[in-house]
Amino acid sequence: MSSITINCNRLMKDIEALAAFSDMPAPAMCRILYSKTDMAARGMIKKLAEAAGFSWREDAIGNLFIRMDGNNPQLPPVATGSHTDAIPNSGKYDGVLGVLGGLEAMRAIKESGRMPLRSLETIMFTAEEPTRFGVGCIGSRALAGAISETQLLQLQDLDGNAFEAVRAEAGFKAPLNHLPLGKNCYSHFVELHIEQGPNLEAAGTQIGIVTAIPASTTMQICITGEGGHAGTVMMPNRRDALMAAAEFALKVEAIAKDNTSSDAVATIGKFEAFPSASNSIPNEVILTVDIRDRRSEVRDEMMASIEAALAGICKERKVTSKTVVFNCDPSAESDEEILSIVEASASQLGLSHTRMVSRAFHDTAFMARLVPVAMIFIPCANGYSHRPEEYASPDDIENGVAVLANTMWELAN
Ligand code: GLV
Ligand code: MN
Ligand code: MN
Repeated sequence: MSSITINCNRLMKDIEALAAFSDMPAPAMCRILYSKTDMAARGMIKKLAEAAGFSWREDAIGNLFIRMDGNNPQLPPVATGSHTDAIPNSGKYDGVLGVLGGLEAMRAIKESGRMPLRSLETIMFTAEEPTRFGVGCIGSRALAGAISETQLLQLQDLDGNAFEAVRAEAGFKAPLNHLPLGKNCYSHFVELHIEQGPNLEAAGTQIGIVTAIPASTTMQICITGEGGHAGTVMMPNRRDALMAAAEFALKVEAIAKDNTSSDAVATIGKFEAFPSASNSIPNEVILTVDIRDRRSEVRDEMMASIEAALAGICKERKVTSKTVVFNCDPSAESDEEILSIVEASASQLGLSHTRMVSRAFHDTAFMARLVPVAMIFIPCANGYSHRPEEYASPDDIENGVAVLANTMWELAN
């Protein structure tokens, strides 16, 4: 039995080829759920799976499962995977590494002439990014039964398109009631991802072994005041929605900064004023707040403080607000058995490794509701992610995929 050899050139070519599917000029990536570009990228991945001799199936919302049969296909398979949707102005490794790297790990195992006992699967999860419908991890959330058919049917994008309409337009017409996978779907799930932060690179460590994924919440807040003429409505008479939102934004930052937890973060990533004319007082602001901490309780406390701050500012400034909580997910923990196997795989390959907490959320957080999970991180340059400069070196990519392949092999036998 030969060792598992990763074909890094082939994988790098696949990553480059997938990067050609983008709705923004290179190097910026943008692949939004069910867009023509997203669908074309999915087509490329299916072709790669077929070329490798693997079968694939798709569920009603486009989660894609690429399979390599093991000696006993009756046993729950070992799964890996991630996402290929990309937020506007992002890079080419976030998520993509976990999908194409998972595929490469399976190809490498197959080419080594080994046949695992359990089957192996690489999953491309639909819409890990919250770009289109506000809520992240739609695919893995649905597989875990953490979003119901009714909730899926209520989703609307910013242009008012219903989830159901865009799903059908993309060609996914099967009923939504068979999405949840159930507890014995897989024996284990392991996701490979770039760190998206600076710690591995700064420490010169080759492999991060993820012990937990933070609790995270996304909410959308609409603040309504009163519009009017920029010259004629005098300052004491104003109910300016933007000024209320600006005061609120600074308060959100202070709540996260002043928190005693060093893991606490809060981000206002969207901030849109209406009617957005230079000589008009904004009557409405729509903004989002993304709140995270390693511990669910800390995230909950921050959420409560943020809601209280909003109520106070609205009262003081005589404006109103409406909050929609898109998601409020608990933190997720990795499985000790998988962590030890990842560690042993990294050690055998002579790679330095460390245990760490993920700062980003991942589909793994939802797979954790079904099966034992863990994640493998590799360094990325300057910790850059969600921006076009995102970069992971071929050497680090090869290391990560090698650890993934060895881990999957161990788990499958
Ligand atoms: C995932 O992209 C995240 O926002 O953590
Ligand atoms: Mn991302
Ligand atoms: Mn990602």
